[in-house]
Amino acid sequence: MPDFIPFNRIFKDNEERKALAGALEGDCWHGDGPASRRVEAYLSEWLGSPHVFLTTSCTHALEMAMMVLEIGEGDEVIMPSFTFVSTANAVRMRGARPVFAEIREGDLCLDPEDVAQRTTPSTRAVIPVHYAGISVDFDGLRAALDGREIAIIEDAAQAVGAFWNDQALGTVGDIGCFSFHDTKNITCGEGGAFLTADPELARKAEWVREKGTNRSAFLRGEVDKYTWVSPGSSYIPSDLLAALLEAQLRKKEQILEARGKVWHVYRDFLAEAAENGWIRLPVVPSYARTNYHIFHFHTRDAGDRDMLLQKLREAGIGATFHYVPLHDSPYARKHIGFRDALPRTEELAGSLIRLPVYPGLEPICKEIAERVVSVISHFYQNR
Ligand SMILES: Cc1ncc(COP(=O)(O)O)c(C=O)c1O
Repeated sequence: MPDFIPFNRIFKDNEERKALAGALEGDCWHGDGPASRRVEAYLSEWLGSPHVFLTTSCTHALEMAMMVLEIGEGDEVIMPSFTFVSTANAVRMRGARPVFAEIREGDLCLDPEDVAQRTTPSTRAVIPVHYAGISVDFDGLRAALDGREIAIIEDAAQAVGAFWNDQALGTVGDIGCFSFHDTKNITCGEGGAFLTADPELARKAEWVREKGTNRSAFLRGEVDKYTWVSPGSSYIPSDLLAALLEAQLRKKEQILEARGKVWHVYRDFLAEAAENGWIRLPVVPSYARTNYHIFHFHTRDAGDRDMLLQKLREAGIGATFHYVPLHDSPYARKHIGFRDALPRTEELAGSLIRLPVYPGLEPICKEIAERVVSVISHFYQNR
């Protein structure tokens, strides 16, 4: 085992090099070229989504979601505080108000009961985040929304290839947003996708993504010139990145299998530490099929986390924490006026540790797990 195991490594071989070299040879470096079309068709077929648009990032897919739903000033959007800043920024950029809700112990996804408490006549949308590739409780969430006209936008940045029952995440709500950033299971460096089954939202998404124009319709020969038809921006990735993504997608089963193996070894090896009450392990509910994006656990007390992280790093494990809750960030305190404490979110975020999970760790994951267990036992036996 090497002296230090980094937290993340990109899984790549000659296939990505060949794909990129092939794309460079061609004459289409801009977006929506042949590779982009093939990738969109592939994702559409694999995930069962009629409309898939590649985007420059998940951040941008979330911004598109706000624009196509015409969310703006006076509107509220409920989301977990335990998320990446892009979830909230997309809302804020339209002048709407992010409303932060609690997550649940176990799956770290939005707590439907808390969502129900925070719903007001101004609520236009809710953004569940499928943390670690584990699905939100959609039945609970829909019950909480109680038939009101509130859109569900899935922040499925981490959840490509994960499922809620038989439905792919990103295709269950009104809109799904994916990330292909190089910290994700499948990557092209920077990239994302916007998914919807609603033809009207798809029509608007096409405009928003193409700088607010109907240029896509023009390129299909449906109109004789293109013009400004909506607000929009430049959210189309280069075909070079799509070619890279295509090469990665061909290896999706291999990636999933490798990550799953590492994840299950960690889980089995850490079970005893959990039984001893030193740590708490995540729960994958029966309706959720994870894509093994993250392996995480919680320390007994939030105050232990940073000390244990330090010990793990000293032992050569590139373990790390995750999101700092947004409701307590300098920007939110100053500009959003959200005043509630979210004690469960604070405790869960403050006690969370993530371990390295990626293809290539399979041969050494038992050794890594043994070392993690040894650090945890030593830490708690001496406290
Ligand atoms: C929950 C969540 N949403 C959105 C994003 C943003 O993704 P991107 O880097 O593709 O913009 C991330 C990034 O890690 C994320 O974790």
